[in-house]
Amino acid sequence: MKDKLIVALDVETPGKALELAKQLHDIAGMFKVGSQLFTSAGPQIVKDIIALNSKVFLDLKFHDIPHQVAGAARAAAELGVSLFTVHASGGAEMMQRAVDAVSQKGETKVLAITVLTSIDATILSEIGVTSSPDDSVLRLAKLAEAAGVDGVVASPQEIESIRRTAPNLLIVTPGIRPSTSRSEDQKRIATPAAAIAAGASYLVVGRPITGAANPLEAAREIVAEMASNMNRSEERN
Ligand code: C5P
Repeated sequence: MKDKLIVALDVETPGKALELAKQLHDIAGMFKVGSQLFTSAGPQIVKDIIALNSKVFLDLKFHDIPHQVAGAARAAAELGVSLFTVHASGGAEMMQRAVDAVSQKGETKVLAITVLTSIDATILSEIGVTSSPDDSVLRLAKLAEAAGVDGVVASPQEIESIRRTAPNLLIVTPGIRPSTSRSEDQKRIATPAAAIAAGASYLVVGRPITGAANPLEAAREIVAEMASNMNRSEERN
């Protein structure tokens, strides 16, 4: 079950990130390096995490002309990351080029971002998209599947409809809060057990672990909560 836990290292310094990775690498299967950490620490932080015998999810959300994204995908694969993200709204060709660029590297998988959870119907209409956020998510998930990507990043609320629409995709789910933590926004979050039961392949958890007084204990509790639902949910992916 620990293989399904990705800890988001959204911290300010590479020292803090590495300290957390060292503390947690026995309990978490992967660490997410996002824009903040990568921009301040560079590719060395990815190498340092991999050197701990851990895996890296590089969440830089590439969105550019296909040639650029193919080059970034190749660089990510050469760095040894296990997962990285591209925006599905970059189009099928852009996604296919990313998939082609990593196909010889074996271990690296491509994830597509559909619609960010910060984007609502008003923002979509501002940028000229008239379909609803839910319809846009499913349309982009189908496009991503057809382009050959391995998976999508999806909120807990989107897991089941994406499973129905694009059943072959891995689903990586943020917005996880343990049952013991208080939540300010019940609509956008799920417990670890509920997300696994809904069909998430991986859970991305940041602050409930990295902001805890005892990150190792917090991670252990989340893995235990994930496992508590495994008898109701079959291992998918
Ligand atoms: O909230 P938390 O610290 O657990 O977030 C972990 C990761 O999930 C963050 O790195 C963020 O990029 C992602 N996230 C997201 N959508 C949300 C909340 C968080 O993609 N609504």
